[in-house]
Amino acid sequence: MSDQYAIIGNPVAHSKSPLIHMAFARQTGQDLVYGRLLAPEGAFVATANAFRAGGGRGLNVTLPFKGEAFRFATELSERARAARAVNTLKFEGDAIIADNTDGVGLVNDLVGNLRCAIANRRILLLGAGGAARGVIEPLLHQNPAQLVLANRSLEKARLLAQSFHRAFEACSYAALAGRQFDLVVNATSASLAGELPPLPPMVFARGALAYDMMYGKGETPFLAFARSEGAALLADGLGMLVEQAAESFFIWRGLRPDSAPVLKLLRQAQDA
Ligand code: ATR
Repeated sequence: MSDQYAIIGNPVAHSKSPLIHMAFARQTGQDLVYGRLLAPEGAFVATANAFRAGGGRGLNVTLPFKGEAFRFATELSERARAARAVNTLKFEGDAIIADNTDGVGLVNDLVGNLRCAIANRRILLLGAGGAARGVIEPLLHQNPAQLVLANRSLEKARLLAQSFHRAFEACSYAALAGRQFDLVVNATSASLAGELPPLPPMVFARGALAYDMMYGKGETPFLAFARSEGAALLADGLGMLVEQAAESFFIWRGLRPDSAPVLKLLRQAQDA
């Protein structure tokens, strides 16, 4: 029987992960199947354990279970610890080995695909929820000149910043007035609701990259704003999605797939 993997979440029907991982498997000649696992709310552990008992080798975890997966693990990577959330589980005997590949997915998309340097650049990260938390440590690891975290709730931004060993600035949107950044990453859920974070004008420095972690058909309000503000480069989160999957695939199979053709495939399907 082929090795079994799946994406677990609720909802999970629209996940692109099966398509991505099956493409990686074909490309690298790996004998595996990757499906979707819908877990009822409150039944993450039972669903994941049943999959494991049936011979499942690993899971990707999506909303709303990344925190539960963190508690379910018996071994946590440094990245998972910093994110306090898990998107990749590997089952080995009794061990439940957990990692979080979201942050490295963002960094690999920025540096590898988009050729955007992070070292010595001024980075502005919007949002203070789980999506922002997951990328802070990998961004800091690249040694930016500054990392500034802005959030509507300043209290939430400060609490998040305080939970990291390395210091970085947390502020309100109003406090961004008059400041410029080379990279602005939208990690809020605003785009989901068709909303724009309350950014003051002129936060995009000359040559700046605007990155929205969301993806889908059409431009998000954040990217439309960035375009109108003269940002040099606009990117959605599709590249991050493929790169986090590539890192999960590496954790499970010990092989690095080529993400470029898979990203191209997804991009064509999205724009069709
Ligand atoms: P996630 O896990 O996706 O990060 P979350 O934990 O619910 O989701 O966090 C959502 C984030 O998006 C928060 O930082 C929220 O800001 P507040 O903490 O101030 O509420 C942010 N957010 C949601 N809608 C927003 C909007 N319209 N403008 C700015 N920030 C928004």
